[in-house]
Amino acid sequence: MAAVPESSTVLNAIPSHGSAPTRRFHVAPGGTLRGEVRVPGDKSISHRAIMLGALADGDTEVTGFLEGADSLATLAAFRAMGVQIDGPEAGHVRIRGVGLHGLKAPGAPLDVGNAGTAMRLLCGLLAGQRFASTLVGDASLSRRPMRRVTEPLARMGASIETTAAGTAPLAIRPVPQLAAIDYVMPVASAQVKSCLLLAGLYADGETCVTEPAVTRDHTERMLATFGCPVRREGAKVCVRGGSRLAAAPVAVPADISSAAFFLVGASIAEDADLTLPAVGLNPTRIGVLNILEAMGARLDIANRHDSGAEPVADIRVRSARLSGIEIPADQVPLAIDEFPALFIAAACADGETLLTGAEELRVKESDRIAVMAAGLAALGVETEVLPDGIRIQGRGDRPLGGGSIDSHGDHRIAMAFAMAALRAEAPVLVQDCDNVDTSFPGFAVLAAGAGLGIEEQPA
Ligand code: S3P
Repeated sequence: MAAVPESSTVLNAIPSHGSAPTRRFHVAPGGTLRGEVRVPGDKSISHRAIMLGALADGDTEVTGFLEGADSLATLAAFRAMGVQIDGPEAGHVRIRGVGLHGLKAPGAPLDVGNAGTAMRLLCGLLAGQRFASTLVGDASLSRRPMRRVTEPLARMGASIETTAAGTAPLAIRPVPQLAAIDYVMPVASAQVKSCLLLAGLYADGETCVTEPAVTRDHTERMLATFGCPVRREGAKVCVRGGSRLAAAPVAVPADISSAAFFLVGASIAEDADLTLPAVGLNPTRIGVLNILEAMGARLDIANRHDSGAEPVADIRVRSARLSGIEIPADQVPLAIDEFPALFIAAACADGETLLTGAEELRVKESDRIAVMAAGLAALGVETEVLPDGIRIQGRGDRPLGGGSIDSHGDHRIAMAFAMAALRAEAPVLVQDCDNVDTSFPGFAVLAAGAGLGIEEQPA
């Protein structure tokens, strides 16, 4: 059966994300970034630590857990399904695993807020339970495509109802038994892959997923750490239904996606010299480093070591003269969350940067191509919006203008434009910044400590 194509909403008018914003950033122009910045724990790994810890036999100790709204939503969802979780306290969480079949029916819909990872991974996990459940999210998440998970799950025999548009709420009903599938994903998505591997734990036989391009492999690494064999065969990964998970400690590295704002900020600022310790450098996540290096960034990687199943290292970044590039196609899935920051780097570079093959950016927390283009235009940067990417004319020696930017409640867009002020000639006001807390609580304080002239103000 051919994959059902998803209608990704290509937005002409950018919709509002829902609830009324309470916070904005006021960022003074110029300045620099110096010293050491410890960015919070990796969001993708934090979600997975809660999920696998809950399904494991025994207690899982997590350190470096991201206390952001997204991963806290996952934590709350498992508490609502009867899992005892202590913490988080200074990044430390203890999950009392209930085993593969120990979850209990939640008493109410599980609200995962803005978190796409929580919704898509939980959807697979819940499809295999013996109880009914409903997943809901905020206005932004309720617009994002869910057929990419519900369609292959239906092939496994799952019963999941979406809206007519293929969006949340997702109403999941129990079925007697899921059947394993061998699925070739039409989009390169770690969320889809992970969703199906989690459902595969409950399926009869071996579930296999083939990805069209390499995507982040945290689920596979963590499953293996928890003693669940993951079979790999080229681009195909497989798990066997019924595999038990054994609790194992998880040390969450600093999130390279959060580090990205500082990598770009220190590259574009004058006289910058910043060190970001113990950042996760999983090879499926380092597109941002490869792209910045190709643009001429000065990055030094030191102290490489493994933190459990994940490689980490310290990154030192200094000011550099950046040049526009054509972004290599193979780097797109490896840098998928870092494009808002990379677009700011491109706006400050000499010459043109061209990104194509990135239509997925249109279905993130906002339509990141349209929203970034609108913000860049407000700062005087010329762009050409393409269906699957963008062409950005770098301003080179000419500063960016100041102005007011609507982040559309997208955390990564808000933080990217805060960094743009380092090269602006007037203040940059970033509107609608509450969702920065989904991935990077404390961003403004940390950035101010390193030298960014940022202040949080009531909206
Ligand atoms: C994630 C996968 C990516 C990424 C998201 C986190 C994950 O999404 O954009 O922020 O943790 O698996 P896709 O799988 O939709 O590419």
